[in-house]
Amino acid sequence: MNKTLLLLPGDGIGPEVIGEVHKVLDALALDIDVSEALFGGIGIDTEGVPVSDETLARAQAADAVLMGAVGGPQWASQSFDTRPEAGLLKLRAAMNVYANLRPARCFPALADASSLKRELVEGLDIMFVRELVGGVYFGQPRGIEDLPDGGRRGVNSHVYTTEDIRRVARTAFETARQRGGRVCSVEKSNVMEAGLLWREEVTRLHAEDYADIELSHMLADNCAMQLVKNPKQFDTILTDNLFGDLLSDEAAMLTGSLGLLPSAALGEAGKPGLYEPIHGSAPDIAGLGVANPSAAILSLAMAFRYSLDDEATAVRVERAVENAIDNGTRTADIGGTATTAQMGAAIVQSL
Ligand code: IPM
Ligand code: MG
Repeated sequence: MNKTLLLLPGDGIGPEVIGEVHKVLDALALDIDVSEALFGGIGIDTEGVPVSDETLARAQAADAVLMGAVGGPQWASQSFDTRPEAGLLKLRAAMNVYANLRPARCFPALADASSLKRELVEGLDIMFVRELVGGVYFGQPRGIEDLPDGGRRGVNSHVYTTEDIRRVARTAFETARQRGGRVCSVEKSNVMEAGLLWREEVTRLHAEDYADIELSHMLADNCAMQLVKNPKQFDTILTDNLFGDLLSDEAAMLTGSLGLLPSAALGEAGKPGLYEPIHGSAPDIAGLGVANPSAAILSLAMAFRYSLDDEATAVRVERAVENAIDNGTRTADIGGTATTAQMGAAIVQSL
């Protein structure tokens, strides 16, 4: 039976970058069943919800799901749980993709596109393992309530259980084993109980099963600083949902552009993975045809690696993106003038 890939183009530049993913898939001409569904703001406009039950069911039944981007100013005044972003959180939770792998690798040809000095970022290769279905994004209680004095109170809860921490930590240790063999676990155990539990559980799991891996711990504020001071000290960074969101955006800029960074969200073995470029819907450039499709295409490569059992194609697609950049095809975010379509064509050409 063919593998199945569900594409969720979404909003803003999402459909533009997924359009180039289609061209790569066409050029590869593999036996994969590719389909699309509405997702995000476009889902709200068309079906009344950011993600329908049917789309959730199709995502859970696919081998891999690849999303473009969600959100935009036209939906920002929408009530909280009907926003496009709520659809993404619902999808992540329904797929139970608790481990989000976010590689931050500096392409040699782009070492000068970083806001940091070349010597700090040349050869940079960090893997973030971000917890994706827990913490303050999902914890209860949450909400905004009215107070008797006429003021209001906003509440979010940062919650992690032993098992939440252990399963994502396992992914980080296993990932590090395939890489540099070092995990740096990041939290705020100096001010947060859930951060202290995080540190204790990671330490315990390490002693039990991963003594071959070098484990260190770092407070999240220090990590934010170390990432711009000496980013090459890191191999694999394990962190929670919120810190992982912030730190992976920061690391993305070290590599030159958000337009280059893919991600893979993985759950239990044998379940589908969710793949997303790290960038958002970029409303400022949506519709102009100038977005960089590299992050979406590199996310497709990760889907081949982790969900479609095709490492050779993953490597082939990654090399094609790297070659297109080496050969001088650059969108504006990486210092060039290529359009989305030209960048996509150069990548297809390099396959
Ligand atoms: C990301 C994004 C999302 C997140 C938003 C769009 C909900 O910023 O994937 O990093 O905060 O997780
Ligand atoms: Mg983010």
